[in-house]
Amino acid sequence: MTDLDSLEAAALGEIQTAQDADALDAVRVRYLGKKGVLTERLKTLGTLPSDERPAAGQQINRIKSSLKQAIAEKKSGFEQSDLQHRLGREALDVTLPGRRQDLGSLHPVTHTRIRIREYFERFGFSVEEGPEVEDEFHNFEALNIPAHHPARAMHDTFYFGDGMLLRTHASSVQIRYMQHNSPPLRIIAPGRVYRCDSDPTHSPMFHQVEGLLVDEHTSFAHLKSMLVKFLQTFFEDEALQVRFRPSYFPFTEPSAEIDVAIPGSEPGNLRWLEILGCGMVHPAVFEQVGIDPKRYRGYAFGMGVERLAMLRYQIDDLRLFFENDLRFLKQFT
Ligand code: FA5
Ligand code: MG
Repeated sequence: MTDLDSLEAAALGEIQTAQDADALDAVRVRYLGKKGVLTERLKTLGTLPSDERPAAGQQINRIKSSLKQAIAEKKSGFEQSDLQHRLGREALDVTLPGRRQDLGSLHPVTHTRIRIREYFERFGFSVEEGPEVEDEFHNFEALNIPAHHPARAMHDTFYFGDGMLLRTHASSVQIRYMQHNSPPLRIIAPGRVYRCDSDPTHSPMFHQVEGLLVDEHTSFAHLKSMLVKFLQTFFEDEALQVRFRPSYFPFTEPSAEIDVAIPGSEPGNLRWLEILGCGMVHPAVFEQVGIDPKRYRGYAFGMGVERLAMLRYQIDDLRLFFENDLRFLKQFT
């Protein structure tokens, strides 16, 4: 047992130089394990002369506990540095600026449609919808537009060839609504409409909001006050210049179109932009939907949503609304 001191020194050296927890555990097994060096030594105590046994036994046990302690210390050193490593790796710099999220926003046409709807809802108009793929009856015939009418010419309307077409205006919703409801009526019908048309103020797909009010004593004066007040509210301008221009629609009589003044390039030099068509519902339309034209009168209007948006946001080419250029759209967030 004379080599016990050097055995201890060697074991302590191995413990100190262990590179990681696995290597440390290998050292532990080599010295303290079931078949470890020190365990084997304890088993051979019996071969010693009896007067040497107690001292040797004590020494082995002392070495065992000294190694155990050294291993425990080394192990907690590994655990500490592991922890430091993880803390370093998983560190959060709470002072870093947040990652920016791009906020989406409503399309200017949607904004405009919502403003229109909110105005008319205040006056008791409900919102109705109709199909974009329409039949000739609802888009034309019931609106007093017979087959020979110029609005039916191929250059205006997208036909499917089976009597169906893309609705050219939202007035078709008037017909669908009047077929299934009895007066008094107050509706607006916002939606997409289609025409074979393209220039800075015309696009092949655009949005209209149709309006219809039917009651016993409805007059053109009601129509006029409702629409003038609407335009002043929409543009937030009491002094807005609006003109009613006599016009013709087969489904209204009398009919008018409303233009809004746009300041021109020079002072006092005005341009007018047409934004809606309107009039008193034609008796022939009431007859098509089974409403008594002697008892009821109504007014109707159909406005171009993009035209209103153009004026409100001072945009001179309506096609910008449909190009979805983010540089354009982001100006409306
Ligand atoms: C009509 O569509 C009628 N249905 C409106 C109406 C309804 C009259 C009820 C009487 C009673 P018009 O074709 O003029 O009318 O179109 C109405 C509005 O839609 C126009 O004033 C304009 O603002 C807009 N508009 C028309 N064509 C286009 C287009 N290609 N692109 C964008 N806006 C358009
Ligand atoms: Mg027109």
